[in-house]
Amino acid sequence: MALTRLFHDSFKALLHAARMQYPRRVAVLPIAHVGHPVLRQRAREVTLFELESPETQGFIDDLVETMRHANGAGLAAIQVHRPLRIVAIEVKDNPRYPYKPNIPLTVLVNPVLTPLTDATFDNFEGCLSVPNLRGVVPRFAELAVTALDRHGAAIEHVVRGITAGTYQHEVDHLDGLLFLDRVQDTRTLCTWDQFKEHFEAAFIERVRTVVTRYGS
Ligand code: NI
Repeated sequence: MALTRLFHDSFKALLHAARMQYPRRVAVLPIAHVGHPVLRQRAREVTLFELESPETQGFIDDLVETMRHANGAGLAAIQVHRPLRIVAIEVKDNPRYPYKPNIPLTVLVNPVLTPLTDATFDNFEGCLSVPNLRGVVPRFAELAVTALDRHGAAIEHVVRGITAGTYQHEVDHLDGLLFLDRVQDTRTLCTWDQFKEHFEAAFIERVRTVVTRYGS
């Protein structure tokens, strides 16, 4: 066991040295669109060993970069053709979702979401893998989250309201689900232009109610 650990540590030190010598450039990755089979796979769990590797760490940098570049509120690894259970979430005055409460950058590895109550709310969602379409999806309002962070440390927290909707959307991707699968009334489906014209004002009101009730 000690020997394995020693080997593991020396291996890590070597990789770290290599990384210092050849710093890696962050890349924007191509996003898979609805119809691509990768989006319908169940992403697999990431091992700690794999997570610590420079390859995976570099991939996480790219995932975050790609999310920011596309103005996404979140992005799952599977959306950039890597069926691993990793998602990035961040909302910082997002132009795609100007009504969304901010969320600091959060990387979840092997996340598990557990609804804390039966309460749901109707969320108007869009997705970088479903260009120019939005629709109403019921989401649980309060969730317990367990996951690892990008360095393998345990994350345990509770998310509520609109933020809980974003978490559910991203974690659904890891099970091969798109928001389209959860739309109950297909008449709510609309392009972004039509959303702005016909639905946004009412939805912003609803967001206010949710944020007042759940704090986010
Ligand atoms: Ni999505």
